[in-house]
Amino acid sequence: MQLILLGPPGVGKGTQAKMIAGHYGIVQISTGDILRQEVMTSTDLGNLAGSYMERGLLVPDEVVIEIIKERLQDPDCRPGYVLDGFPRTLAQAEALDRVLEAGRSRIDLALSLDLSEAELVERMAGRRICEKCGEVFHIRFHPPRTEGTCDRCGGSLTQREDDCEETIRRRLRVYEAETAPLIDYYRRLGKLEGISASGDAQEVGERIHRVLKARFGS
Ligand code: AP5
Repeated sequence: MQLILLGPPGVGKGTQAKMIAGHYGIVQISTGDILRQEVMTSTDLGNLAGSYMERGLLVPDEVVIEIIKERLQDPDCRPGYVLDGFPRTLAQAEALDRVLEAGRSRIDLALSLDLSEAELVERMAGRRICEKCGEVFHIRFHPPRTEGTCDRCGGSLTQREDDCEETIRRRLRVYEAETAPLIDYYRRLGKLEGISASGDAQEVGERIHRVLKARFGS
């Protein structure tokens, strides 16, 4: 099963990608997580990517395409994968198609998550991330047992740099201009399923599961 999760920032792509990956025994590939890891360890790639990410802008296509090309060659991708945050531009979608075609593979389905802007802002503004293990919480919708502390590893929780109000607004505009056109791209290929992302993570997960069950039968 080779899936894409499309959707605006904060809609719950990462949350749902983890649930799908766990349920179907496939890997989650998040370009945002890969890039944040590079930023944290101050690699050349991280320094370059960070200068775009902190402003809420997309990292150049050639950089992320190269990351994905390499990642898809890893053996853990063989049973399948869910791409979370890639592709994000038409150029990335076309490059992905070329890479997969060369390996006689293809994307099975793109799931497009949708939510009102007010709810997106609320989800991002309340998000907290563990500095140590990257676990994601929300101060209202998924609070940690002890405020400011990760349930999983005891690390400190922090806000993502790009989750401040001004950058959130810019990310939403960038999504509309650069990424939303991909909804039509996958619709034209007959590979799009739209899913409402309102309700709690479990409810959204059940909607996704119903769609995947109807398509793939498990
Ligand atoms: P990335 O990390 O991909 O960020 P994003 O697309 O902006 O998405 P988010 O991670 O903000 O949100 P999400 O949809 O995963 O939501 P989550 O599950 O965390 O990218 C960051 C940056 O990297 C980009 O801006 C860009 O600079 C760069 N980048 C990455 N990929 C790139 C690419 N392909 N090309 C170029 N540049 C790229 O949920 C959000 C919060 O809501 C959490 O607190 C969660 O607990 C909570 N929540 C989740 N679901 C629910 C629910 N159903 N109800 C209530 N709360 C919920």
